[in-house]
Amino acid sequence: MAVSQVLADGIGLTTTKAPYIEQAVANGEMYITQPYELYSAENHDTWQRLYARMQGLWQRHANRRFLDGLDTLCFEATKVPRLEDVNRFMAPRTGFRAKAVSGFVPAFNFFDCLSRREFPTTITIRDGQSLDYLPEPDIFHDIAGHVPMHTDPAFAETLVRFGACAHLAAEMVSGMTDRAEQRRRLSSIQNALQRYFWFTVEFGLMRGGTHDDITVYGSGLLSSYGEIVHSVTSDSVQRYPLQLEWVINQHFEIDHYQPLLFIVDDFEQLYEQVGTLEAWMKAGKLDNVTPGWRDMSEADVDSFLAASTEGRILL
Ligand SMILES: [Fe+2]
Repeated sequence: MAVSQVLADGIGLTTTKAPYIEQAVANGEMYITQPYELYSAENHDTWQRLYARMQGLWQRHANRRFLDGLDTLCFEATKVPRLEDVNRFMAPRTGFRAKAVSGFVPAFNFFDCLSRREFPTTITIRDGQSLDYLPEPDIFHDIAGHVPMHTDPAFAETLVRFGACAHLAAEMVSGMTDRAEQRRRLSSIQNALQRYFWFTVEFGLMRGGTHDDITVYGSGLLSSYGEIVHSVTSDSVQRYPLQLEWVINQHFEIDHYQPLLFIVDDFEQLYEQVGTLEAWMKAGKLDNVTPGWRDMSEADVDSFLAASTEGRILL
């Protein structure tokens, strides 16, 4: 659909309702541009309301590095951010850039982007009628929840090192002739990597701060009006120091508040733990982690296999 047609219809870029995105997916376009003129007045109003209601919660519960990142990025409170503006402020700090995508990015491609200091970023925004309903990640989660953390050098280096683990995984299975075993092994490794990402980048807590001496750095919490408070104050949440053995074997569910969260001391510890993850992968310790609620999809496995056969592994 032509941009002029979409503009004439006034449809906007609302999650699951954007013809521009549907067309990109139909064309097989994973990496796209942000057609900024397509955002409707309602889309901008949704951003404004989401951003305004998080301000006090961020000041109370967010990690200091996140708040510093917000200052660096200079988001406009009243409009959906332009990715090029975000990148103009972010790239000089850590080299990271937000990269617009049409939706689902297979696991290998996602990790590969991180290793190149690119962050796959959704450009649609949730329906303003229900601010707390999120059928899939949107630009508020990706830009307001994730991206401020990418301005911190230690956190950025952790993401890059973590992304490189995907290349190691693809390389490790590239010579295997038993296809069934190759898929099983990849699925186990990816489960371990996904869990690490989930319990740190998405839902991580850090020691320090004023509320029970814990602050929030995980983007899933930082972009959630209800869960950010719940994560640090509720007695029903189990909070433990990060233990890698536990994290890689702990399955998670995505459709309710997290009952189990892990606490790190600092981002240097997070970086070191990725080094341990790498070492364990090389030693075969990630080949038999416990199965999960969401095991690796066929598309995710295929993305690793495609990388290993097309010679896209960078080690
Ligand atoms: Fe996320």
